[in-house]
Amino acid sequence: MTREEILTELVRLQPWFHRIALGGGLYTKTESVMGEPVDHPAKPWETIGKCLPEDLTGKTVLDVGCNAGFYSIEAKRRGARRVLGVDGQRQHVRQAVFVRKALGLDIEYRRMNVYELTRRRVGEFDITLALGLVYHLKHLVLALENLYEVTRELLVVETAILPPKRTPKSFTHPVGRAEMRLHPLAYVENPHGAKEQVFNWFLPGVEALTALLRNTGFDEVEVFEVKNERAVVVCRKTRARADSDVRQHYVAALALEAGPPACHPAEELSFTLRVENAGLARWPARGDEPDGRGAVHLGSHLLRADEEEVAWDYARADLPRDLEPGETAQVEIKARAPAEPGRYVVEFDMVAEHVAWFEDFGSGTLRHELVVEEP
Ligand SMILES: C[S@@+](CC[C@H](N)C(=O)[O-])C[C@H]1O[C@@H](n2cnc3c(N)ncnc32)[C@H](O)[C@@H]1O
Repeated sequence: MTREEILTELVRLQPWFHRIALGGGLYTKTESVMGEPVDHPAKPWETIGKCLPEDLTGKTVLDVGCNAGFYSIEAKRRGARRVLGVDGQRQHVRQAVFVRKALGLDIEYRRMNVYELTRRRVGEFDITLALGLVYHLKHLVLALENLYEVTRELLVVETAILPPKRTPKSFTHPVGRAEMRLHPLAYVENPHGAKEQVFNWFLPGVEALTALLRNTGFDEVEVFEVKNERAVVVCRKTRARADSDVRQHYVAALALEAGPPACHPAEELSFTLRVENAGLARWPARGDEPDGRGAVHLGSHLLRADEEEVAWDYARADLPRDLEPGETAQVEIKARAPAEPGRYVVEFDMVAEHVAWFEDFGSGTLRHELVVEEP
């Protein structure tokens, strides 16, 4: 890009929050937009740079809330193999894409909200950065779970916190029947209609922040620095977490292709469903000997319209073959209609034999209304 082209884009894409050197004495910004130092984020980078390996050769890095890409660029300069920067605001992705072009760097950018981050959508990253992000999150726990899901080794969180001098101490108190630790976390009252990605929502005390990150699943949560009402926390995954992985494995997408909405009492019924393995592990059509443990089947429950249970184990059908993540299959399931006329619901769900119904892991079921007519 010529100097003139760069200068034109710098004006077109302002205001800038990140000051990034573009060469030839040009910088993305020359003045503060919201009270931050003009050279932001040079100062926080001094700390965050110490949390990351000097050499990122071969590593993959995800920068969530990447803004104009300052940290993504630094990760790339340390040798990261793949860097993906995502930001919920289009304006910042446009800035980041322009800076990438001006600097000729191989970095991926996507406009994406933290709530959309899943392993299936973006993959898994050795290192995830969540810098200046946490206090913008209205759905804080959901976002932390997503960050956990896409992180393989290390998550670095940098955030504004409850002012330490004004933060009440954590204390133990009975909640229900158990003695629990309660940690202060503040809700920031906003004007009606406040835009999530711009306004602030929760300011955690440091102890609330570390408890949240531990409960999300990180094995080691280390407070790296607390300074000027901000904290840098480094979170590590040191072992596979069977429980959270299982939740990712048993995910199905079910669609009804054919099946009667009405029938006669005790009639033989046939439903055809398209089942998709929307999880992360293969579904075996056959399980382990001797009881078939682990085999994945299409199952169903029969309920009355008012949710009263008629038959929990209503009908089952085998998969035609093992299904890899992302694969679909057509499955026919046969059942006998109830003898008593009335309004019913057939609720389809996948089941891993002797393990669980998928619904127990948060997977969606498919509900089909069935009217059994008077004879
Ligand atoms: C305070 S800035 C921090 C930018 C950069 N990470 C830093 O530390 O300098 C917050 C950034 O997070 C983005 N952001 C806020 N909420 C988000 C969300 N829910 N999903 C993705 N990005 C979000 C904003 O658009 C903004 O670019």
